[in-house]
Amino acid sequence: KTNHSVNADHSSKSNSSSNAAHTLKAPYALTAELTHRCPLHCAYCSNPLELQKRENELGTADWLRVLDEAAELGVAHVHFTGGEPLLRQDLEQLVRRARELGLFVNMITSGVGLTRERVRRLAEAGVDSMQLSVQASDGELSDRIAGIKSHELKRRAAEWIKAEGIPLQANAVLHRHNLHQVEEIIDLCVSWGAERLELANVQYYGWAFANREYLLPSLEQLQAAEAAYMRSKARLGGVIELIWIVPDYYAEYPKPCMGGWASISFTVTPDGRALPCTAAAGIETLRFDSVKERSLGWIWQESEAFTAFRGEDWMPEPCRSCDRRHQDFGGCRCQAYLLTGDARNADPVCALSPDHWRLADFVASRGASARSRAAGGENDPAITAEGDRDPPV
Ligand code: SF4
Ligand code: FES
Repeated sequence: KTNHSVNADHSSKSNSSSNAAHTLKAPYALTAELTHRCPLHCAYCSNPLELQKRENELGTADWLRVLDEAAELGVAHVHFTGGEPLLRQDLEQLVRRARELGLFVNMITSGVGLTRERVRRLAEAGVDSMQLSVQASDGELSDRIAGIKSHELKRRAAEWIKAEGIPLQANAVLHRHNLHQVEEIIDLCVSWGAERLELANVQYYGWAFANREYLLPSLEQLQAAEAAYMRSKARLGGVIELIWIVPDYYAEYPKPCMGGWASISFTVTPDGRALPCTAAAGIETLRFDSVKERSLGWIWQESEAFTAFRGEDWMPEPCRSCDRRHQDFGGCRCQAYLLTGDARNADPVCALSPDHWRLADFVASRGASARSRAAGGENDPAITAEGDRDPPV
C-alpha cells in the first residue's frame, strides 16, 4: 500500500542552501489538519493560540490537490486530524482520494460527533485505522479534562470502530491531573479493543505551553507513572502495543524532535500553510509558504522554512561541536524558540545549553509546588482554570 520507495526520487536532490552534503529524502508522512474547530477544550492542546476560523479553511478541491501532490512527492502515510476532523463533511471524500493514491490513512478523532453510520461511511471510503483520544480512565475526570461530557461518547465510538473492523488506536496525553491513572487508562484501552496506545507525556507547545504551570507533574508523579507503565507492559505483553513518549522537561538531553527538521514528515494547517512540524507556526521569525501558492514539492525542497534547519551547518555552539548532534539534531526548534526567542539555539532541555536554567528554574518551582500540594492534600486548581482555551466550535 505504500508508494514511498517508488516515488522517493521525486525529491532526491541536494539541499545546497542548508548543507551541501545533506541528501534530501522524500517525506514519509503528511499530517493534514483539516480544521481547528473542536468540541473539546483540553488545556494541553498543541494547536496554536490563534486558531483558524472555519471561513479560512482550505476547501475540498485544495485538499484533494494537496493529497495528489503529497503522493507524487513520495508520502506514504496521511493522518487526518484537527481540531476534530469529523466536523468536515468532505472527510469521506478526502479519505477515498488518499486511498486511491495508495496512501495509508489514519484518522485522529475525539470520537465526539461520530455516529454508527459515519463509521460505516468512513470504512467504505477506506480508512485504515482510527486513533481515539483518551483523557482519563473514568468519566468524571475525563469529562473535566475535556471540558465537556464526552467519555461515554468515546466508549461508544470505540465500540462502533471495532464493530466495523477498523483497527483502533488510542492516545492519552499525560499530565499532572491524570498521571496517577496510567494503569487504569491502559486497562480501559484494552477493554475497548485498542491495538496500540500512545502514552504521551504532554509536550509544551501551543495551549500546553500557555497552561504549563497547571500541567507539569512532579518528578515523583512521573516516576510512579513510568513504573506503572512498565508493570503493565510486562503484564500485557502482546495484548496491546504501548508507546511511552518521554517527558522532556525532566530529561538531561533533548529528544531528536521530528527525527530532524523537515526530514521525515510535514503538516498542512487548516488555512493551507505547510509546516515542518505541527508546532512550527509559533516560530514567528520564519515564513511558512501556503499550498495555495506553492506546490508541496517546492515547499519541501526549496522553501525558506523547510531548509532553515536541515543538516548541521546552521547549528551554533554548543551543538556545532557536540558529538550528540547526529543523534538529537540539537533537539527541538520550536522549544528553542519558545524558551529563548531564537530557533537556532540548542533546545534548553539540554543540560549543556546556556539557556538550560530557563527550563530548570521553571521545573524546580512548579515540580516542587506539585509535590507540596500533593503532600498537603490540597486541591489542584481547576484543570482548565486561567489558561482555559475557547476554540471556535
Ligand atoms: Fe544535543 Fe546540542 Fe545538547 Fe549536544 S549540545 S546534546 S547536540 S542539544
Ligand atoms: Fe517543532 Fe520540535 S515541535 S521542531
